[in-house]
Amino acid sequence: MADGSSETKSSNQMWGGRFASGPDAIMEEINASISFDKKLYAQDIRGSIAHATMLAHQGIISADDKDKIVHGLNTILSEIESGAFEFSRRLEDIHMNVEARLATLIGPAAGRLHTARSRNDQVALDFRLWVKEELQKTEKALTALIAAFLDRADEHADTVMPGFTHLQTAQPVTFGHHCMAYVEMFGRDRSRVRHAIEHMDESPIGAAALAGTGFPIDRHMTAKALGFREPTRNSIDTVSDRDFALEFLSIASIAATHLSRLAEEIVIWSTPQFGFIRLSDAFSTGSSIMPQKKNPDAAELVRAKTGRINGSLVALLTVMKGLPLAYSKDMQEDKEQVFDAAESLELAIAAMTGMVRDMTVRADRMKAAAGSGYSTATDLADWLVREAGLPFRDAHHVTGRAVALAEQKGCDLADLSLADLQSINPAITEKVFDVLTVEASVASRTSFGGTAPAEVRKQIAWWRARN
Ligand code: ARG
Repeated sequence: MADGSSETKSSNQMWGGRFASGPDAIMEEINASISFDKKLYAQDIRGSIAHATMLAHQGIISADDKDKIVHGLNTILSEIESGAFEFSRRLEDIHMNVEARLATLIGPAAGRLHTARSRNDQVALDFRLWVKEELQKTEKALTALIAAFLDRADEHADTVMPGFTHLQTAQPVTFGHHCMAYVEMFGRDRSRVRHAIEHMDESPIGAAALAGTGFPIDRHMTAKALGFREPTRNSIDTVSDRDFALEFLSIASIAATHLSRLAEEIVIWSTPQFGFIRLSDAFSTGSSIMPQKKNPDAAELVRAKTGRINGSLVALLTVMKGLPLAYSKDMQEDKEQVFDAAESLELAIAAMTGMVRDMTVRADRMKAAAGSGYSTATDLADWLVREAGLPFRDAHHVTGRAVALAEQKGCDLADLSLADLQSINPAITEKVFDVLTVEASVASRTSFGGTAPAEVRKQIAWWRARN
């Protein structure tokens, strides 16, 4: 037993240095989960109340015992919430801590609560309830982030900026269009969250240790009481399954990867060299030595949290991959990964929402950058196809020569004279200058999902109706 009696045993010579007593203390340390699974107290108590209520309804325990159990569990809930509850590592986990306290509070009736139940289905229930609630919070947080982006996109549907591929200037786009790319990404994350809530909406309680139970329980009743659509259908799978945790971590990893790409853009955009945005004081820090600095620490930390979240996914996948059915204690390692990832994700989404809402968009800097780097070269090529009837490949070649000439003269495409352009291809007329400005370029990209302000406004309206 991992109790006081172990104190008398001598420490192991090889690894007992930090232990006052023998192997039992080590066993207790490796085995206990209370330090982290106490986070599940509310779900544990809710699950037990539903279970006891069902047991009484089915005549498996008396109504009197059920009343004592429910009353005792509610007392424990307030004790934990007021900080008066003493958690004990000797009692291993949240389930046994609650049950032991219940016995102290109500006596022998407490012993009836665990009828037709095991900690295997109990932990599967508690943790699933917790993850489901966390996903509901994530859904709200993503909605707020999407709302922040929709507002910025509205405001900047006409703000021209360089669009990049390979981080090299590609074609002009609008900042509103770029914001809407993130709306699409976080919108997909949110739909993954909704699907996952659907997937995990099945109640594990009543699977018992792995084989179900001979008591006449009603799993549909507990499922309903706990807000699940229905009970799980296979008791072996139920206690073996941690897909709900893996799905949470997968969704969190993909969302965090999106946040990290945004963080990276914010870091780049806020450099003096780019100067596309200015972060608010509320979401940046200064330097203790260099007075001129304003650092994007929040964005950098969002980028870094992604490493943690992705790490949690890999950790739990690795824990699960070798486990035979049904429950193995390895699965106790699921919780810390999920708790840590959930905390990191919540914080990262909140920080990003704040940064996006607060940042100053420097439209003048974006426009100046959009016009450099020959970003309208494709527009010239398209014009040659449309107006002069050239095959696109030839137009590409002619445009390449125009870019080379501009480069040689140290000017932009729009600054070349008509004579210069005609020296490359005589079919070019004065009208070409209409497409060489960045505004004309973005306005022309009216294909569905394209960067034309009118098109971007349509996409904003589509999302507003769904957010
Ligand atoms: N603390 C355990 C966990 O988190 C609860 C389940 C224990 N079940 C068992 N058969 N030892 O996984």
